[in-house]
Amino acid sequence: MDLTQAREQAVARDLADPIGHARDRFVLPDDIVYLDGNSLGALSAAVPPAVKDVVERQWGQALITSWNEHDWWMAPRRVGGRIASLIGAADHEVVAADSTSVNLFKVLVAAARLRPDRRVLLIEPSNFPADLYIADSVGELLGLDVRRVEPGDVGAALDDEVALVSYSHVDYGTGRAHDMAAVTQQVHDAGALIVWDLSHSAGALPVALNECDVDFAVGCGYKYLSGGPGAPAYVMAAARHHDSMRTPLPGWTGHARPFAMEGSYEPAAGIDRFRCGTPPMVSLLALDAALAAFDGLDMAQVREKSLSLTRLFIALAEDVLTPLGFEVVTPRADAERGSQVSLRHPQAYAVVQALIARGVIGDFRQPDLVRLGFGPLYVRHVDVVTAVEQLVAAVTAQEQHDERYAVQTTVT
Ligand SMILES: Cc1ncc(COP(=O)(O)O)c(C=O)c1O
Repeated sequence: MDLTQAREQAVARDLADPIGHARDRFVLPDDIVYLDGNSLGALSAAVPPAVKDVVERQWGQALITSWNEHDWWMAPRRVGGRIASLIGAADHEVVAADSTSVNLFKVLVAAARLRPDRRVLLIEPSNFPADLYIADSVGELLGLDVRRVEPGDVGAALDDEVALVSYSHVDYGTGRAHDMAAVTQQVHDAGALIVWDLSHSAGALPVALNECDVDFAVGCGYKYLSGGPGAPAYVMAAARHHDSMRTPLPGWTGHARPFAMEGSYEPAAGIDRFRCGTPPMVSLLALDAALAAFDGLDMAQVREKSLSLTRLFIALAEDVLTPLGFEVVTPRADAERGSQVSLRHPQAYAVVQALIARGVIGDFRQPDLVRLGFGPLYVRHVDVVTAVEQLVAAVTAQEQHDERYAVQTTVT
């Protein structure tokens, strides 16, 4: 298909898009195609007034009384409840808190403590580096043998020594989606517990934690949830574990009676025990406001839109980018794909810089990936065509060899 024809079809698809109106819920610069919502979600239009209100009225005028007057104290649970509806969990199973890394540490230790007679933790080799580092640290602290095993090979690696398995639902590099139901079932059949990292799936595709019988999950607030840079993360624990799970970070806000100021720790009931320190209210209420962008949207339609975008991108990439030296590394099968497409290219870093200079923002991941995320609430089919056109133009003009794009910035 040529790109002119693709653009005509893209315009028609955008006009017929049942969730096309969701784009109006975001603030996006007119001259930018934003394909990095898998790293930092776009600004939700509800956030600036909410932040102004929390800073000027709640903090500025009501001062410390806002912990009661504006119910700041329960905000982690309120926001957790909103996230729960996007990930197939019950309200009382999710709390917004800390970072994904910290939450992962909490749940890996808590899960391992639920299987005290087992000595093995499995994690996939290509998981996000923080997940690998934390798994190794938990292994060292608890004396667990940490083994790196692909989700596809987990069956052969499971035995009665495995305490827990920690996988990402969608791979941050390749965009590959794993079969949560099937893997969770295999892990449970072996008597082990599963922890899923939802950072690259929540908000972009339906996640059915309880339907899949998942034990624990964590995820970022700043990617597809658009909570803002460094937004609080969330942690989910299935209700059946609430009474027995023990956090390794017993903070005062997760105490059964936080204001009794007791000298010894007694965990709060339920998911609240995964709270640790004082929540960052400005960021937390920004995330709360951002989640309004999902109000009334059917996640099945969000998924259909996401697949339509990535399907179109892959089809065009195979037609016009493969001959220019790109390789699509993201799976073609819909069920195996999240909401991003990664392209391998020998000068991937410079290609991304050239693309950004041309008004299309994506990012680079080591060693040779151009990573493009398609936030289904605000990316349009015409943006997909523009991105492909600009990739063709950049590489045809040999911009990947331009020395301006050779020096790597601190954040890639
Ligand atoms: C899959 C995954 N897990 C964990 C993290 C780490 O999140 P944080 O830096 O918020 O702890 C990231 C960050 O990008 C991620 O992509």
